[in-house]
This record gives sequence, structure tokens and C-alpha cells, in this order.
Amino acid sequence: MKKKRSLSSKIWLYEHFKDPYVKKSHRNNLRSRAWFKLHSINIKYNLFKKGMNVIDLGSYPGSWSQYVIQSIGDTGTVISCDINVMDVIPGVHFIQGDVFSIKFMNNLMKIINDKNIDVVISDMSPKITGISCIDIPSSFLLFQSALKIALKILSHNGDFLVKVFQGEGWEELLKILYKNFSVVKICKPHASRSRSREVFVLAKYFKK
Ligand SMILES: C[S@@+](CC[C@H](N)C(=O)[O-])C[C@H]1O[C@@H](n2cnc3c(N)ncnc32)[C@H](O)[C@@H]1O
Repeated sequence: MKKKRSLSSKIWLYEHFKDPYVKKSHRNNLRSRAWFKLHSINIKYNLFKKGMNVIDLGSYPGSWSQYVIQSIGDTGTVISCDINVMDVIPGVHFIQGDVFSIKFMNNLMKIINDKNIDVVISDMSPKITGISCIDIPSSFLLFQSALKIALKILSHNGDFLVKVFQGEGWEELLKILYKNFSVVKICKPHASRSRSREVFVLAKYFKK
């Protein structure tokens, strides 16, 4: 039997296929329009250099990992992680797991071994319900988890880029970044929809 779509999902599909970033990502074989968000942040702040070691949290379907591996070249390392299975990207090491689980952390630490980690990026997002009193705290939990990982594994002067939904209490999260990093910037890339509460926080120069 054919499933009927709700009005909101019809609107979402209409907007999605009209979106210029969706069209460009299809034309360029990119796994998602999120590629353009990372690209504009990198153009402005020059995050990635050849030979770097980068951790990508919440990597599925993989456009940020595609971007990073191209930027750092084959002398660098990208370790990508997601709760969903991600199709292979040549040169990218993928770990499937939930960032809240101990098993995941153990796997990650094993793979990092004694590598210096230069950048941790997190585009992790909860499943959006549209109810802000659920979505915002869920996003804060993912933020906190990414931050905990970054503080544990980043090298001195390393950088951390994280997505978060703005909402009551987010200043408290920013305070932790101001304390641990020398520079903190809030970014809203053009490709990030204006009606979305998401922003990206870039924290540079970890004071290990
Ligand atoms: C917006 S998507 C990331 C898009 C990706 N940066 C890209 O460019 O293709 C957010 C991802 O966060 C992942 N995620 C959410 N909660 C997670 C968790 N607890 N552990 C690991 N990944 C999680 C989701 O599975 C989803 O794939």
C-alpha cells in the first residue's frame, strides 16, 4: 500500500530539492550539502593543512570526511565515527559506534594510538523532533560528548569545531570553551538554513 506523506514532509522534500546546495552537491558527487558549511568555515579560518590528523564525529553520510581527506592529503589521517554505517571513503578510517558508549571510546583510543590529533570536528545532530525543549538539550548532550572527546585527545594548540543548537543554557557550554581554548568564534555558514537553530562553534588553540 502506498504511504501518504504528511504536509510537513512534503514541504521538506519540496524545499530540499529546490535547495541550490543540494543541487550542487549532487552535481559534484558530494555525500551531502553539509560539505558547503565546512568549506566556508575552512575558507575563513584555514583549519586543515596537509599531513594533519583529524577526527570527524557524526560523519555519516560522509561529506565532511570527503572534504577533510581532500584537504589533508595522503600524509594525514581522518578517523570518522558515526552510529550509522558509512560507505567507504578511500583513505578514511571509519568506526561505527555511539559516542556515549565506553566501547566506542576504547576503539577510538586504540586507533588513535599515540598520534597527535590536530583537529576534532563534530557535526553530530540528534534526530530532530521539531520540539525545541527536546531537540536543544539533546544537541547539548552531543556537544558535551564531543567536547569531552576533544579535551581528551587534542594536541596542544589543536582546534575543535562543533555544531550546536542555540538555546537556553548554551552560554554555559561556551564558557568551557573560553576556558580551554585561546580563541572562540561562532559561525553561521551561508549553507546553514536561517530558520535552523544550528550554529558552529570554532575553538582554536587548545591550552592543553
Ligand atoms: C548532520 S549528520 C552529519 C553529516 C556529516 N557531517 C556529513 O557531512 O555528511 C549528523 C550525524 O550525527 C550522527 N550521530 C547522532 N548521534 C550520534 C551518536 N550518539 N554517536 C555517533 N553519531 C551520532 C547521526 O547518526 C548523523 O549521521
